Amino acid sequence: MLVNKAIFPVAGLGTRFLPATKAQPKEMMPVVDKPLIQYAVEEAYAAGVREMIFVTGRHKRPIEDHFDMTFELEVALEQAGKQELLDVVRSVKPDDMECIYVRQAQALGLGHAVLCAQRLVGNNPFAVLLADDLMVGTPPVLKQMVDQFKEWRASILAVQEVPAEQTKRYGIVAGTAVNDRMIDVTSIVEKPASDVAPSRLGVAGRYILTPGVFHEIAAQPRGVGGEIQLTDGISGLLRREKVFAFRYEGKRYDCGSKEGFLQANVELALAHPELGSGFREFLRGLEV
Ligand code: G1P
Repeated sequence: MLVNKAIFPVAGLGTRFLPATKAQPKEMMPVVDKPLIQYAVEEAYAAGVREMIFVTGRHKRPIEDHFDMTFELEVALEQAGKQELLDVVRSVKPDDMECIYVRQAQALGLGHAVLCAQRLVGNNPFAVLLADDLMVGTPPVLKQMVDQFKEWRASILAVQEVPAEQTKRYGIVAGTAVNDRMIDVTSIVEKPASDVAPSRLGVAGRYILTPGVFHEIAAQPRGVGGEIQLTDGISGLLRREKVFAFRYEGKRYDCGSKEGFLQANVELALAHPELGSGFREFLRGLEV
């Protein structure tokens, strides 16, 4: 059982970043020099995924264009002898990677977005990556999860400890530790207030799920915010199958918030092979 398919829910309106997202998808906002969605796609590719399924909405054409061939640009770069840039452009979509687009006509929630890809996923395990969560890890976080999946053969959710006052922003899991990193999940709730949260283990935007979850998502009533929640589907799945939470090794930037997005830009710029040292100098010179 290989994890060869990944779902990228990218139909959201991105209202938190208005006006930047008025006419462009939030997933196309660059962190240093790459759009957010490309980080997530590269992470999936590094984990062995080759079939990328984007659940899109209106105004999301730039995402399709980004992962398409840009003929005029490639010809222009070739004629100008700019081989390095040509390689950068071509590496966005390696030849053995397939991109598939499906529309989520109504924004009914994350669970609904995942359901939109059901027919494309079929009876296979699959990954879900939320591009808002930029993950930096060695090996990449989804690769760590795929390695665990090979061993445990069950759904795996990436989790991290979150501050008590932030449980209301996450899916929160509770369960029994099976080792340092793996937790056998016994319950999961979407965005609980801190006084009712079963733990402080919050789900980050990386999942490996078994196809049984589709049926469970479809069977749940509307959840938090009147939306069809992925968390509720996973909660249903728990009653039939094992689900594990995985404390990944790495760092998560919440690029769905302005603070997280700025932090990602600063830290990734500092780590950038060409920009890093100059940028460090620049920051040192700032009187903050
Ligand atoms: C979604 C999920 C939530 C998860 C979070 C991770 O929420 O519903 O369970 O913890 O992503 O980023 P959203 O951030 O889309 O509101």
